[in-house]
Amino acid sequence: MQPTLHLGDSSDAFSKGGNRLCFVDPGNKGRCIKVLRPDRSPEKKRREKSLLKRLKPLDNFNDNLQELRTYQLIERHVGEAAFELVPRCYGMVDTNLGEGLSSELIRDDDGQISITLKQYLWQQGETPAISACLQRFAQRWSELGMPSRNLLLHNVVVQCQQGQPQKLIVIDGLGWSDTIPVAYWIKALARRKAARKVRLIHKAIDQLLYKKAHNLKYGYHGWLTDEARSEAASPPQDS
Ligand SMILES: Nc1ncnc2c1ncn2[C@@H]1O[C@H](COP(=O)(O)OP(=O)(O)O)[C@@H](O)[C@H]1O
Ligand SMILES: [Mg+2]
Repeated sequence: MQPTLHLGDSSDAFSKGGNRLCFVDPGNKGRCIKVLRPDRSPEKKRREKSLLKRLKPLDNFNDNLQELRTYQLIERHVGEAAFELVPRCYGMVDTNLGEGLSSELIRDDDGQISITLKQYLWQQGETPAISACLQRFAQRWSELGMPSRNLLLHNVVVQCQQGQPQKLIVIDGLGWSDTIPVAYWIKALARRKAARKVRLIHKAIDQLLYKKAHNLKYGYHGWLTDEARSEAASPPQDS
């Protein structure tokens, strides 16, 4: 059996999403480990749903388990090329904060953890470099028929080299959400659905830039401080 990984407590996470806390793997700084937020347990999430949805098994409300299954489907139905666009997934590990999902941690060439597309656009605007990345991403995402829910700007990270955006990687929100996700087996349908998702990104970008232009709030998700980005460049030692 694998030894339990000690991640510390929630204040040691480099980032927090709506459902999970993200830590740098103390034994491998090229990997991150995501654990479920204690205040967003599968039991709690299920209780919040309608009576009909509450009939679903508890595993359906566990984001880590769902994501692991999605990665397996991606490997089977899209294959190796998918990992140009999503992190590699290394499976579940046992941690002091419960089961953790281990995956590739996306970093820039200077070792800093890559920021989200949302943060990049807020800080830099829609630069020619990010537009070029978006175009390449849209083409590849569509031709591979990558499965996802709506692509949210805080679930996409921008990997930079020498400060310049090189590629976009989707780190969350993967998998078809249909009750019977036939698009895994019908490539033409997958391509059509994926193309629609990338078209919708432009709407999300316009909304974000409107917020910025009108001095509205950035929102809760998808901001990494410089400290979190670089602190994690050398993760705390295992104790
Ligand atoms: N593989 C990764 N590489 C770099 N940053 C990541 C990675 N996974 C998550 N993050 C950062 O952590 C945040 C939250 O992660 P996410 O998986 O979206 O959690 P949740 O499922 O709670 O929404 C992301 O917005 C992103 O900034
Ligand atoms: Mg997320």
